[in-house]
Amino acid sequence: MHDAFGRRINYVRLSVTDRCNLRCTYCMAEDMQFMPRRDLLTFDEIERLALHLVGRGVKRIRLTGGEPLVRKGIVDLVSRLTNLREHGLDEVTLTTNGTLLPELAADLAAAGIRRINVSLDTLDPARFAELTRRDEFDKVMRGIDAARSADLAVRINTVAMRGVNDGELPALLAWCGERGFDLAMIEAMPLGDVSVDRKSTHLDLTEVRKLLQERFTLSPSIHRTGGPARYFDVAETGTRIGFITPLSDNFCSGCNRIRIAATGTVYGCLGHDQKVELREILRAEGPGTLDDALDRLLAGKPLRHDFDIDRAEPALTRHMSATGG
Ligand code: GTP
Ligand code: 5AD
Ligand code: SF4
Repeated sequence: MHDAFGRRINYVRLSVTDRCNLRCTYCMAEDMQFMPRRDLLTFDEIERLALHLVGRGVKRIRLTGGEPLVRKGIVDLVSRLTNLREHGLDEVTLTTNGTLLPELAADLAAAGIRRINVSLDTLDPARFAELTRRDEFDKVMRGIDAARSADLAVRINTVAMRGVNDGELPALLAWCGERGFDLAMIEAMPLGDVSVDRKSTHLDLTEVRKLLQERFTLSPSIHRTGGPARYFDVAETGTRIGFITPLSDNFCSGCNRIRIAATGTVYGCLGHDQKVELREILRAEGPGTLDDALDRLLAGKPLRHDFDIDRAEPALTRHMSATGG
């Protein structure tokens, strides 16, 4: 699949639920209106859609949420998707907050997951509780241990915020290095109404890179995942640090992805409302075919997001948890 700008689209972010057992302050409000469960795509529908997408050249599927592991039966879905490897899919990955990994890491590995991204913004339990509005730090630590024991490659995701966790970013890199984890730092994007002031906590990752370079030797890495992170090799740890800079350094020209919300709405871009609806087509009630809808999506996929930290209102009312980022 290609979009109107000639970008090859071979990566799908598939949100399996918008629910989450945490309430990260930059992501969600405390009170969220979640999607009714009856509106979610069933596993059969997801599997059929995924097979169709693989037939159109999709090579990687990343499961997201909300928190993907709160969806009941998720390991079964993972197995169904990893089975699509015989149809040409290369990889199924997942982005998680880690709280349910103590129970699920081994099963996910057995179902064919090899790499996961785990969100962790702080190593301080009290700050974790403040940031996520839940007291689950220990579970995340146990979850990360379980992932290691199951031989999953782990990348830690850290949203870098001024006055919140900027003081501990070098320690986070050292912590990841000791465990053999790559780390990705992320600039928070203005999606959905949340209680924090994203502008005052905005941290340009160029600054963070300079700060890290006081303690670590960073050199541009040849490592690529096809995602937005730009990686550097860290000489002292043998691991990598990636920077995801939607606000300070746009990366959209290399975009390879579309994102499917749990109800079957497909968005061309995280930062726009351009979309098509696939659920009714999958339920064979709608008029169009999957291919027509996907072609419409690709034809209208925006060139780039235009998140702007100086704008007072969030760019979109949709929260990150509705599409999984
Ligand atoms: P890979 O699949 O390994 O490339 O990982 P990833 O970085 O794409 O996935 P992950 O779910 O870990 O997301 C990390 C951060 O990148 C989150 O904040 C996402 O919202 C953000 N992100 C992922 N894809 C895009 C994108 O296409 N545009 C923007 N603006 N942000 C993205
Ligand atoms: N901006 C940037 N990243 C965000 N995440 C959640 N909300 C935002 C936001 N507004 C991150 C999570 C997780 C990943 C899927 O997206 O921390 O690591
Ligand atoms: Fe949940 Fe992830 Fe949003 Fe935190 S960032 S509330 S873990 S979906």
